[in-house]
Amino acid sequence: MKKDIYKNFKLIDHPLIKKDITILRDKNTNTEIFRSAVSRISNILAVEISKNFSLSGTKVQTPLERTNGFELKQEIILVPVLRAGLGMVDGFLQIIPDASLGHIGLERDEKTLRPNEYYLKTPGNLNRAEVILLDPMLATGGSASAAISFLKKRGAKKVVFACLLAAPDGIKKLFKDHPGIKIFGAALDRQLNKKGYILPGLGDAGDRTFGTI
Ligand code: PRP
Ligand code: URA
Repeated sequence: MKKDIYKNFKLIDHPLIKKDITILRDKNTNTEIFRSAVSRISNILAVEISKNFSLSGTKVQTPLERTNGFELKQEIILVPVLRAGLGMVDGFLQIIPDASLGHIGLERDEKTLRPNEYYLKTPGNLNRAEVILLDPMLATGGSASAAISFLKKRGAKKVVFACLLAAPDGIKKLFKDHPGIKIFGAALDRQLNKKGYILPGLGDAGDRTFGTI
């Protein structure tokens, strides 16, 4: 039976995302506008992802009486993949301001397209938290897959991956390597070119976020 590789992929279909993805794709968009569009899309992704957070009941005293309330059951940890994932952090923190942060530094080797790790720092309570891995680009899937492996090795049990553009190859790889991981994406692109860039894409997300073109 053919496996549905898109089973774990949720495309967030929203008019404002479509408008902002167009801004990101435009090669004439400058760094400032690029960053603000990434932030706005991240806001919407954060709202969508947080719909699945678990709650526990609590009591709250209003100025008038004691009543029932809610609190998040688990701590939320955001883990941006350096560099480009950093651009998504602000947008997520606006929606989940009390989240903790971990960081994973990965850089694709331009020839082999395999990710090299250069930094890893995560909060100690990964195993009890809901972890959201942030990286705007899911291309071959090598970086996201490696990042998820690091998180699992450090004890993470609940991980979701948030990206802006996803390519079919990357979705396929994550489905194969980490079938339990749900991917939330703002756009599903067509394919990769020979250099592993997403088509139609937006170019190099790190360079466009940090102005290193
Ligand atoms: C980009 C992007 C992802 C990776 C995706 O980072 O932010 O981490 O490529 O490609 P993959 O799915 O084929 O692994 P890059 O390695 O260019 O590093 P940078 O963010 O520091 O520019
Ligand atoms: N990384 C990027 O920044 N862009 C791509 O298109 C693919 C990987």
